Amino acid sequence: MFRVIIALAATLAFHVEAKTMVTKKPFGKTNDGTAVDLYTLKSGKLEASITTFGGRVVTLKTPDRTGKSADIVLGFDTLDGYFKTNPYFGALIGRYGNRIGHAKFTLDGHAYTLPKNDGDNTLHGGLKGFDSRVWTGKIDGDSLVLTYLSKDGEEGFPGNLSATVKYTLTSNELRIDYSATTDKDTVLNLTNHSYFNLAGQGEGDVLKHEVTLLADRFTPVDKGLIPTGELKTTAGTPFDFHTPHAIGERINADDEQIKFGKGYDHNWVLSSGGGSLKLAAKVHEPSTGRVMEVLTTEPGLQFYTGNFLDGTLTGKAGKVYKQRYAFCMETQHFPDSPNHPKFPSTELRPGQTYRTTTVYRFSAQ
Ligand code: GLA
Repeated sequence: MFRVIIALAATLAFHVEAKTMVTKKPFGKTNDGTAVDLYTLKSGKLEASITTFGGRVVTLKTPDRTGKSADIVLGFDTLDGYFKTNPYFGALIGRYGNRIGHAKFTLDGHAYTLPKNDGDNTLHGGLKGFDSRVWTGKIDGDSLVLTYLSKDGEEGFPGNLSATVKYTLTSNELRIDYSATTDKDTVLNLTNHSYFNLAGQGEGDVLKHEVTLLADRFTPVDKGLIPTGELKTTAGTPFDFHTPHAIGERINADDEQIKFGKGYDHNWVLSSGGGSLKLAAKVHEPSTGRVMEVLTTEPGLQFYTGNFLDGTLTGKAGKVYKQRYAFCMETQHFPDSPNHPKFPSTELRPGQTYRTTTVYRFSAQ
């Protein structure tokens, strides 16, 4: 009898903790007067707020090993912060996450020209990518669903693209499900560009964070950070994270690739090969014990160590964001895939549905 009561109590406790609350409030207006909302999802000790402006994760609160909660993503307290130039804090990136070399690609024999917003290249969807569009938000049970119709020709990409991104919070995970359809052959590579600092946002650099990446190759790049096409083994290089390494351990190594990225800013070829949801990376922050695991269906992961942050941006709670104050784990197809037929394809055709999932799983040890 006693056991039954305990089991019942445990089940109820689990249900109480697993219940997710989703609320909505206004977050301001864009310059053309479009209303923007901020949705907050709470489940147990996890809390995430996400705005319809660029699907950006504005805050993400997780507990440390003593149960103390902190916001672990960089961003701004108010919507205006996101209007100024900023390095895609928390953003939903599209249509094409990462770079397209020389801002062009050919599909079905047709040459497409894109805006150049990163030297000679197109980065993260162009001048006004998905990160700066206002999405339509809807609460769907325990999730927030954002939708956006990207018109044929937007930022140079073909096809009317109908995109849906679903954010689900449980007591230990933030899950993002991406889906899209098109009415013309196109290319697509969606990701999220959250900047994490597991010690708490703005609390110093991330050089002591210990990273494991389940990948034995990466895609080396040229000076403009465009892949050369080679899949290079990480063995014996500062790119080998099979066993945990502190981010700072080899970040200033005398290595051409490290120099090109000014630190880590590269795509790892995940051993999972993509397709099904598998563990890709694990990060542990020793002082707070926070652990983040990244699971994804994507074949690649861009590990970026905030090399371009330079102390000119002041974010939430007045924190100044200096170089390497955060890291990103952008799950993705490989950069510049439309120009590399040997890379996994990023093409999407009418009748097909694009579907990818990435999960950020939190714990403390
Ligand atoms: C990605 C890129 C980086 C940089 C950041 C934004 O991670 O790979 O080179 O552009 O976005 O600053």
